[in-house]
Amino acid sequence: MRILACVNQKGGSGKTTTAVNLAAALGELGHRVLLLDLDPQASATNWLGISDAGRGLLDVFVNEVEPLTLVRQTPAIGVEIIPSSAWLVGVEKALAGEVGAETILRGKLRAFPQRWDYIIIDCAPTLGILTVSALAAAQEILVPVEAHVMALSGLAQLLQTVAIVKERLNPELEIAGILACRVDARTRHAQEIVEQLRNRFDSLVYRTVIRENIRLAECPSFGQPINQYDPRSAGAHDYRDLATEVNAQSTTPAATSQDTRQKSKAAPMKKQNNKAPVNKQRAAAG
Ligand SMILES: Nc1ncnc2c1ncn2[C@@H]1O[C@H](COP(=O)(O)OP(=O)(O)OP(=O)(O)O)[C@@H](O)[C@H]1O
Ligand SMILES: [Mg+2]
Repeated sequence: MRILACVNQKGGSGKTTTAVNLAAALGELGHRVLLLDLDPQASATNWLGISDAGRGLLDVFVNEVEPLTLVRQTPAIGVEIIPSSAWLVGVEKALAGEVGAETILRGKLRAFPQRWDYIIIDCAPTLGILTVSALAAAQEILVPVEAHVMALSGLAQLLQTVAIVKERLNPELEIAGILACRVDARTRHAQEIVEQLRNRFDSLVYRTVIRENIRLAECPSFGQPINQYDPRSAGAHDYRDLATEVNAQSTTPAATSQDTRQKSKAAPMKKQNNKAPVNKQRAAAG
C-alpha cells in the first residue's frame, strides 16, 4: 500500500484534478485506490457526487471515529473515497495547541488493512494542521505545480516544510515527484517553466506533463473522472501516462532487482537513484 499526498499550499495548482484523475487512472489499471479528501472545500468529494459527508472526518480528529467507517463508493472504477465537508474547517481550532495532533491521522491510516494498493490524499491549499497531518501520514508526496511563473515561488517553502516534517514526524517521507500541470503547449512560457523545473529539481520532476485541457475543467460538473468523461481527451491520456509512471515507482512482488535495473536504464526514474521511495528501499533491503 502506497500512501501519496497531493500537496501544494498554492491554490489552484491542480491537486484535486490530479488526485481524482490519478486515482481513476490507477483504478483503470486494476489497482484498488482510496481517495482521502482532506480539504474542507471538499472539491474531490463534490466531484464524485457526495454531498452528505457531514462531520465524519472531523470526528476522526476530535472524537476518535474510525476512518474506515467513512469509506464510500465512487463512480470511478476501483476508487473509493473518505469524503470531506466544510465541517473539516473545525479541525484547526479543535486541535490548536494539542500535543501530537499532527500524528492522529498517521496512526489511523497506518493501521488500515491492506485493502488498497494506493491511498491518495487531496490536501487543502494551506500548510495548516490538516496538511501537516497528511505529510505525517503519507509515505510520499506528489506536488502538482501550475506551469506559471508565480507557481514556482512557493515550492521552496513547501519543500522546507516537507524537510521539517520528515525530520520531526515522518522520517520515511519522500518526494514521489513534482508534476507540471496546466501546461499550455502553444506558449513558449509554459515550456520554459517546465524546463526551469527540470533544471532546478532534475529527476524529481515527472516525465509526464499534464497539458491544459478544457475537458479536465469540465468533468467535475459531470461527476466523472476524465477517463470516463472523455476517455480520448488529452487529459485522459496525460493522467494515464502519469498513472503508469507513478506505478512504475512501486515495486511489485514480480519485479526483481534485475527488472528494476533494466527499467532504470530504459527510462531513468527519480526513485531509482538515491531518492528511492520507501517501498523500493524496503524491497531492496528485503
Ligand atoms: N490540465 C488542466 N487543464 C485545464 N484546466 C485545469 C487543468 N488542471 C486543473 N484545471 C482547472 O484549474 C482549476 C484548479 O484546479 P484544481 O482544483 O485541481 O486545483 P487545486 O490545487 O486542487 O485547487 P485548491 O488549491 O483550491 O484545492 C480547476 O478549475 C480545474 O478544473
Ligand atoms: Mg483542491
